[in-house]
Amino acid sequence: MTNMRSATGRWVTGDDFFDRESELKILKSRVEDGNHVLLAGQRRMGKTSIARELGRLLEKDDWVFLYADVEDAETPEDMIAEIAEAGHSIQGMMSRLAKQMKHHITDNIDEISAYDFKLKVRAGLDSGSWKRRGEELFSSCANYKQPVYLVIDELPIFLTRLLRHEDGHAQVENFLSWFRRQLQTHSNNDLVILVSGSIGLEPLVRRLGLSDRINHLEPFRVGPWSESASKQCLNILAENYNVKFEDGVPDKVYELLGIGIPHHVQSFFTRLREDAIMHEREFISITDVERLYTNGMLGPSGQNDLSHYEKRLHEGLDDESHKVAMEILTEAAVKEYFDDRASACLMQLFHPLIENVQERITEVLEVLQHDGYLCRENEHYRFESRLLKDWWYARYQGHYQPLCERLDENRSNKEEV
Ligand SMILES: Nc1ncnc2c1ncn2[C@@H]1O[C@H](COP(=O)(O)OP(=O)(O)OP(=O)(O)O)[C@@H](O)[C@H]1O
Ligand SMILES: [Mg+2]
Repeated sequence: MTNMRSATGRWVTGDDFFDRESELKILKSRVEDGNHVLLAGQRRMGKTSIARELGRLLEKDDWVFLYADVEDAETPEDMIAEIAEAGHSIQGMMSRLAKQMKHHITDNIDEISAYDFKLKVRAGLDSGSWKRRGEELFSSCANYKQPVYLVIDELPIFLTRLLRHEDGHAQVENFLSWFRRQLQTHSNNDLVILVSGSIGLEPLVRRLGLSDRINHLEPFRVGPWSESASKQCLNILAENYNVKFEDGVPDKVYELLGIGIPHHVQSFFTRLREDAIMHEREFISITDVERLYTNGMLGPSGQNDLSHYEKRLHEGLDDESHKVAMEILTEAAVKEYFDDRASACLMQLFHPLIENVQERITEVLEVLQHDGYLCRENEHYRFESRLLKDWWYARYQGHYQPLCERLDENRSNKEEV
């Protein structure tokens, strides 16, 4: 940990992985007891990193760790092929599956790359065979001589893709019923599955009326770093990169972020450090922190970090709910909060255009809370992250008119006519 390097890309493990001791301890014992896990938590909280670091720790105890990212999967066939690719590197694990698919996999699997193996498996699957082959795949993992810990990351994104197909709801239901049977079948510690994703699985299945399909996954929610962990991370990074902080710099960073989302802490540090290099200084002051918050984190170069939040929002919601979500978030950014009054105005403004507005508002608020955009305080919803709020404000306040003002204006326009 003391060798930690700064990282702002995807996941981190090993020396670059900071904090999270208790999370790892709890998850490790759950996995060792044979419990499948749903690893939930807000965007950029470090879910993938935790899932992978846990894999690294389990490997030390003779577990096999497989990681499949199913973000690009469009169908169950694609998803199964991704898992087969993950298992390819494990000596002998996929040989039975390869034998059963011998019409499609004629090569010796040790002589082809994992990627080619995936393509061949995929070519051999269709809507009539994926269930059976998928079962065989999971059984191959479970029957392996060592226990297997399999991470399926971005499963909710895959499900939202599936949902967009014609008869999408039925396909998702069919898939989840099958998946639930797999989890039930493998309920000892021969094969333990951890599911995660950058959008919430729980609100998605709830919306579809399929909550019971995931009740074999034990939820675990990853929260932010504490204030002291966030500051400690900054101090360790400063030491490792030979930069000096003026007293109070870590406090200022935390104050501006408002919450210890690991990715935001890391990304702030990178900006501070790069700025110091640019100005050939080794010293970072509180004024630098304030300047870089405004010009860096919120400026054009901060777009990459934050546009992520926009992208995922679109993936998790259909077009109409997405419109509702944009209104709610912009209202909360401009007015500091979204409340019942704003909700009533939103409903009146949109009910001629969008079906079931009231239900959509309720559903969207649930998703926005689950995925960490908003939190509820008394009767108000407000942004959990100050950074995200300020960014949203900078991006959308330009043409924004608060909901109730808009409604009043619409009404007086009508009266004039
Ligand atoms: N334990 C950690 N130690 C150090 N940095 C971390 C840690 N966890 C997360 N980070 C920082 O956050 C970034 C994102 O981590 P990760 O991809 O694991 O998050 P995630 O919750 O899976 O994100 P997403 O919601 O996009 O799937 C990393 O690149 C790193 O900068
Ligand atoms: Mg992730």
